[in-house]
Amino acid sequence: MMPLVESFTEETTSYVNEGWTIRVADELRSTNSIAGRLPPWTAVRARVQTDGRGRTGRYWVSDEGGLWLSAVVPCPGERAKWSILPLAAGWAFITALEKLGVKNLRLRWPNDIMVGRRKLAGLLVERYTEQTAVVGIGVNVFNHPERGEPELSGATARLADLLEGNYTLDDITQVLLHSLRAAHATLLEKGFAVIADELNHRWGKPRLVCVTLTGRDETFSGQFHGIDSHGRLQLATPREGFQLYDPTQIELLRELE
Ligand code: BTN
Repeated sequence: MMPLVESFTEETTSYVNEGWTIRVADELRSTNSIAGRLPPWTAVRARVQTDGRGRTGRYWVSDEGGLWLSAVVPCPGERAKWSILPLAAGWAFITALEKLGVKNLRLRWPNDIMVGRRKLAGLLVERYTEQTAVVGIGVNVFNHPERGEPELSGATARLADLLEGNYTLDDITQVLLHSLRAAHATLLEKGFAVIADELNHRWGKPRLVCVTLTGRDETFSGQFHGIDSHGRLQLATPREGFQLYDPTQIELLRELE
């Protein structure tokens, strides 16, 4: 369980939309850490994050003009059953962006939203309590992440360059939250298999990847072939043939092509 580390120290504006209570702050360290102590169906957005966090402990550049959003969803029942939530959230957000008219999107396992080799959005799903999860998403929209981190030059995509209409960060927030709620309902009502099918259409061509296993100093390469109906990663390696890996077994997956 993650520690509860941050609380609001400033005024936020708050509004309700489609069952979500959305709190908007000017500057936070990380919207995920704030959201960790809030009730289900609350979302937190910040203009900037001073200590934005990415997967595997990386720093996430969160400059003005990007969408930095964390949404609290209920996770009733056994904890293990929710291990597929990061995949389901990736599906929710990619379909939301497709509905806005963004073309040529694909997912990079487990839930990076990509345009070709450029990263448009990343997700960080964390559990701070037994009965809820925080789904954090960072989307490059009008911001310039490469100005803060020059090594990101050529590695990121921005929604502003991909969208035809004039959307505000509020508009995009609402579309993303709507889709997350719908994906949550699909998980509860129909189970993950339906979502797995949908996800498998969105990985793009099979790719050569380099995988690091959790807690082991072991790295190997293989061909990524999507996921099975339980969310397990399907990898073909020259030595072991076709293998299934639970998401928790994989620390890092890097595309090699
Ligand atoms: C990644 O691709 O490594 C995940 C990036 C997740 C960034 C978002 S921005 C909103 C939320 N708050 C954080 O500190 N991180 C997530």
